[in-house]
Amino acid sequence: MSTPQRTWRQVAAKVRAHREYGAGFHWLDLEVPTGFAAPVAGQFVQLLLDFPSPVLLPRPMSVASASRRGGRLRIGFLYAPVGSGTRALAKLAVGDTVHVTGPLGRGYPLAERGTPVLVAGGRGVAPLLMAADVIAKSRRRCEFVFGARTASLLVGHAEARERLARNGSRLHVATDDGSRGFRGNVVQLLDKLAGKLEPPLVIHACGPHGMLAAVARWAMANGARAHLAMESVMACGTGVCRGCPLPRSNEARDRVLAEGAAAAALKGNPEWAMCCTDGPVFESRELDWERVE
Ligand SMILES: Cc1cc2nc3c(=O)[nH]c(=O)nc-3n(C[C@H](O)[C@H](O)[C@H](O)COP(=O)(O)OP(=O)(O)OC[C@H]3O[C@@H](n4cnc5c(N)ncnc54)[C@H](O)[C@@H]3O)c2cc1C
Ligand code: FES
Repeated sequence: MSTPQRTWRQVAAKVRAHREYGAGFHWLDLEVPTGFAAPVAGQFVQLLLDFPSPVLLPRPMSVASASRRGGRLRIGFLYAPVGSGTRALAKLAVGDTVHVTGPLGRGYPLAERGTPVLVAGGRGVAPLLMAADVIAKSRRRCEFVFGARTASLLVGHAEARERLARNGSRLHVATDDGSRGFRGNVVQLLDKLAGKLEPPLVIHACGPHGMLAAVARWAMANGARAHLAMESVMACGTGVCRGCPLPRSNEARDRVLAEGAAAAALKGNPEWAMCCTDGPVFESRELDWERVE
């Protein structure tokens, strides 16, 4: 068995841009020092505020963009101030320091063969736009399904439309109330589009767990592969504290058991996957969707 490689680092990053993004969200751009590996879409980092901070533990945040300016790596985040940690984050000004651990976890396998279909709910749009740019660089086009309850919650809709048009991908919008695009949810829209697309479909999704569970079930029932970016409350983000469990499917549990005790120990537990190291992106068959909260 090969030894897993540690690719993450803990660095002090500088705030380079911070602005309101609409629909109650903020966009934060951090410049990280040389040596910080460029994250791939679907990976995350842990953000820890400088002392004094109202929270002790870092907060996990998906990487929404990664670009180089003058040889320096900048990573962007789309976040909502929902509690004490993210509200403190919202007070950061350009030039402030944030401690960043990353890149962490497994991202989307974007090279997988098939027609790429990206399914985003709410703020899930940002990491998937990053994925769409990567897919476009490999001269493939993706179908991008983007949904929210209502039009005003389609965060970053104008940017999504512009970027996807630029890279030759197609945007399909769904709102529950029909205020923009298809009336219904993203899975209903996916079901409607699927017959027009070249199989096999390879779905990459990011959004609330309820939406991801519905996408996973649709994929398993329709012979598609689906990679879902999961979340869990996290402490370490690096597999040490065992605090971010997600229930494995029977199939995944049996595979871990068959690999033997050493593999089971490395992977945490045959019954439970760790969101931070086994994920956060999981293929639909890896998890027990009946027990995902
Ligand atoms: C891998 C990963 C990627 C994430 N990416 C993003 C992102 O790109 N943008 C973003 O806005 N948020 C993201 N989150 C969620 C973000 O980490 C939480 O919102 C944040 O930790 C809340 O911290 P707080 O101190 O502001 O709120 P707290 O006071 O700690 O919590 C406020 C409320 O949010 C709930 N909460 C906390 N963490 C989560 C979570 N992970 N999932 C669901 N509910 C939670 C709490 O139960 C509570 O109800 C991500 C989480 C994970 C695990
Ligand atoms: S957050 Fe500590 S093991 Fe995942």
